[in-house]
Amino acid sequence: MYRALWACLFLALAPWVAGAEPALKIGLIAPFSGSFANYGKEIEAGMKAYVKLNGDKVAGRKVQIIVRDTTGPLPDVAKRLAQELVVREKVDFLAGFCLTPEALAVADIATQAKKLMVVMNAATSIITTRSPYIVRVSMTLPQNTVPLATWASKNGIKQVFTLVSDYGPGIDAETAFKNAFTPAGGTIVDSVRVPLNNPEFAPFLQRIKDGRPEAVFVFLPAGEQGIAFMKGFHERGLGQVGIKVIATGDITDDLVLDAMGENALGMITSFHYSTAHDSPENKTFLKAFEEVKGGLGRANFMAVAGYDGMAAIYEVAKKLGGKIDGDKAVEALKGWKRQSPRGPIEIDPATRDVVQTVYLRRVEKRDGRYVNVEFDQVPNVKDPGK
Ligand code: PHB
Repeated sequence: MYRALWACLFLALAPWVAGAEPALKIGLIAPFSGSFANYGKEIEAGMKAYVKLNGDKVAGRKVQIIVRDTTGPLPDVAKRLAQELVVREKVDFLAGFCLTPEALAVADIATQAKKLMVVMNAATSIITTRSPYIVRVSMTLPQNTVPLATWASKNGIKQVFTLVSDYGPGIDAETAFKNAFTPAGGTIVDSVRVPLNNPEFAPFLQRIKDGRPEAVFVFLPAGEQGIAFMKGFHERGLGQVGIKVIATGDITDDLVLDAMGENALGMITSFHYSTAHDSPENKTFLKAFEEVKGGLGRANFMAVAGYDGMAAIYEVAKKLGGKIDGDKAVEALKGWKRQSPRGPIEIDPATRDVVQTVYLRRVEKRDGRYVNVEFDQVPNVKDPGK
């Protein structure tokens, strides 16, 4: 009995006794296969870019990223993976979380296990309210939408049709757009919500065309959906009858922009990151990203969130001298500031959500590539959705 106890104690302490501190374990939960596979890949590459530049040891502990594929959107799988990472792998941090339903499903695990949960994409406003252990380094949909609604009303757009993906971030975007655009004198002609998985755009595009708005406001999750939407938009002649597309930058995500090609030219979007952002921090990031990305295409906003999320984890490890405690980790990040590749960011101590500059951008072709060129900005935008 005593011998067994001693053996357990020895095994638990062995790495410390031997002088080698145990690895700093980060459980990365995201889709790495299925229609959202690129989300996980971009985030992981962004995290690796940070490690490449800052070394794989922090506060004396070797950094280990343990990758788990949700194949999602599958909230139940995300929850099970989080449980396993906490119980079996004894991770110090939970990270990733690209899709809102998956982030929401893991919030309770973070609370029970008292683990810092770094949200690197999922962007529905309420997410950070679901656990005091959540810190978000990515964005929220209202944060990116309100500056666009304001821009539209100031630039003579009076009638807008809205089309969003029918789940958390889409509903947030639709609500934020209406709430900002209508009091400024604009009218919402009609609103439609399309399924999250494999939406068929044709009937919706016809409705938009028949409604003859001046513009359609769109939120679609980054990736293939935007390509299909813009293809249909042009094939059905919506551009020819003078309808403009205005959207959050998810749709002209840098990773898919070249595939969208001519169809994207001239689109106006609002977003917190563009690969074309001109700053030394962005150049450093993009160079490191190229070195670690493997077969992946261009860096996008998810990669930047992975990069900044890793910076947050290093900050915590340093502040706590390598002894990770969930409560202290959250405290360490309240009010944390950083010069990110996207511009200055800060964690709002009251909401644990990111505060950042939102840029207005236009798609242009430069040196044979399509890019989101920033032409205006709104600094220090807090999530207006709370
Ligand atoms: C989300 O599920 O919260 C989400 C996914 C993709 C995006 C934005 C938000 O582009």
